[in-house]
Amino acid sequence: MSESINEIKKQIENCNKCKLCKTRTNIVLGDGDINAKIMLIGEGPGADEDKEGLPFVGKAGKLMNFAFDGLGINRKNLYITNIVKCRPPQNRDPEKDEIEACIGYVENQIKSINPKIIVLLGKIALQNILGSEYKITSSRGKWIEKDGIFYMPTWHPAALLRDENKKIQFWQDLELVKDKADEMKINY
Ligand code: URA
Repeated sequence: MSESINEIKKQIENCNKCKLCKTRTNIVLGDGDINAKIMLIGEGPGADEDKEGLPFVGKAGKLMNFAFDGLGINRKNLYITNIVKCRPPQNRDPEKDEIEACIGYVENQIKSINPKIIVLLGKIALQNILGSEYKITSSRGKWIEKDGIFYMPTWHPAALLRDENKKIQFWQDLELVKDKADEMKINY
């Protein structure tokens, strides 16, 4: 039996498994439909997410919401989370020990939600879910099927803020997600 999201929420409540607990304001577990068939995994909370306790509510999240709106995807039909649940200071990449301490939570979230499609937002999500042999530049936009789940690696939304080309590719990758969801009769 997989743990429910509520059980995971209780386990993580006072988490002090890594040093990020000392600087966080809020733990950011995830947001959205706990029965979603499409899950998105980012890197870790930024300043806005740390303040609000919700993933992707800052600049990068707003850009992602803009893409969802344009593509007819309702964010409420998805479940969104991150590899680490507490903000790395100065928005640096999460460190190895922090990821190791936290990765069990996202693994349990995947088991609990049981999605058919997982969108991996950026290198940190890709390499920590599927393995360090995967490179984001060569993997993005291509389906990887593993243990009955279809994974779509794409750019991290923060990367789109700096690069128009990546914005177009991100959009195209989400189109592929929609096509697959249509094929699988998944609501979005
Ligand atoms: N970047 C992430 O990877 N996750 C968030 O929740 C916000 C910004």
